[in-house]
Amino acid sequence: MNHFDYVNGELTVEGLRLSALADAVGTPFFCYSSATLERHYRVYEAAFAGLDAKICFALKANSNQSVIKTLARLGAGADVVSGGELERALAAGITGGKIVFSGVGKSRAEMARAIEADIHQINVESLPELETLSGVAVNMGKTARIALRVNPHVDANTHAKITTGKAENKFGIDWTRAKEVYVKAAALPGIEVTGIAMHIGSQLTDLAPYRAAFLRLRDLVCDLKQIGIAVKVLDIGGGLGIPYDKEQPPLPADYGALVKELLGDLGCSFTCEPGRLIAGNAGILVTGVICEKQGEARRFVIVDAAMNDLMRPTLYDSYHEIIPVRQPAPGDILTPADIVGPVCETGDSFGTDRPLPACAPGDLIAILSAGAYGAVMSSTYNTRPLCPEVLVKGESYAVIRPRQSVEELIAGDKIAAWLE
Ligand code: LLP
Repeated sequence: MNHFDYVNGELTVEGLRLSALADAVGTPFFCYSSATLERHYRVYEAAFAGLDAKICFALKANSNQSVIKTLARLGAGADVVSGGELERALAAGITGGKIVFSGVGKSRAEMARAIEADIHQINVESLPELETLSGVAVNMGKTARIALRVNPHVDANTHAKITTGKAENKFGIDWTRAKEVYVKAAALPGIEVTGIAMHIGSQLTDLAPYRAAFLRLRDLVCDLKQIGIAVKVLDIGGGLGIPYDKEQPPLPADYGALVKELLGDLGCSFTCEPGRLIAGNAGILVTGVICEKQGEARRFVIVDAAMNDLMRPTLYDSYHEIIPVRQPAPGDILTPADIVGPVCETGDSFGTDRPLPACAPGDLIAILSAGAYGAVMSSTYNTRPLCPEVLVKGESYAVIRPRQSVEELIAGDKIAAWLE
């Protein structure tokens, strides 16, 4: 459920008219709903009621300071995957004790900063990484709390680019070798092994892969117990999908029930890393129509947002619902259109054959489900400045990232001395 609805023939966010926001900030812009972020967080939290669980929002989905703070106020921690995200989490007031550092390749500097910030857990993905971390921690005279990220060799049945738990994926330590690495980890100086981590992919629309992965996790906890290694924390990653189109992903409550059923009796606490589930449907991209163009074969609606603003459609062929901000009237004729941006690539398309009424320049169109992996993945390709992010809360709104100017973009370049 989200808080983007048509009211009196116009798309609103928490009751605020999107056209009024467009007048204030121009187009294109990302718009997030606080109420939706909060609701999604609460629903996820409720799914884990009764378990000792830390919910660490995956900052990679949306790392705006105001979004992080909105969730931090509800008690969320952070799952970070770079030194930059670690700083963002700390800057937003999330304490080290609520931060998990994931990722397949951490630099020594990133490791040192994580240890210095005394974060809850560093998820280690290979033996070489473990040895480097041990060295960094010993040098600092500190101990790093770690979980070993295990690759369970389970197909998450999601897009190939975002599946992470198969044998051929770069992530984690093969579950077949996990015990051996665990034993090594337990003997390394500067390392305190507290848990096992697993993340099998993103946008999962079925519980079956989770079931398979959790069973492997369970077996591993039991095997380790037999050799005297007690696992205290189970980090079950993120990945629960959201409806973009007609898919019906599992409810968080059913996911939580599965965790309880398969892992609840092991005496472990849990860390969860949801990203998309919290932010995806809490944000939209609002764009203005530049013009309509009738090609020989297709009707194109050319808008002022482009693939640099929202990369998902061109990168993953992903579906985003596209609707006009002014609700079509009952008698309006809707005809199929391709909604495309101005970037010089055929891949710069948000959707094909979408039913839209006739569009005039300046009309507003909303691209839905853009709150996760939208703004964070945007670029300045074609020298298109980063567009604003706006956070709405009830009747209030705030520009939480202003529109970049072309001057700022150019000023980022430096002229080589020999060209002066
Ligand atoms: N934990 C780890 C270790 C991850 O790698 C990810 C996502 C998450 C948590 C959060 O997953 P979520 O709950 O958001 O599914 N750019 C792609 C998605 C990449 C996901 C990468 N890892 C997209 O736009 O679909």
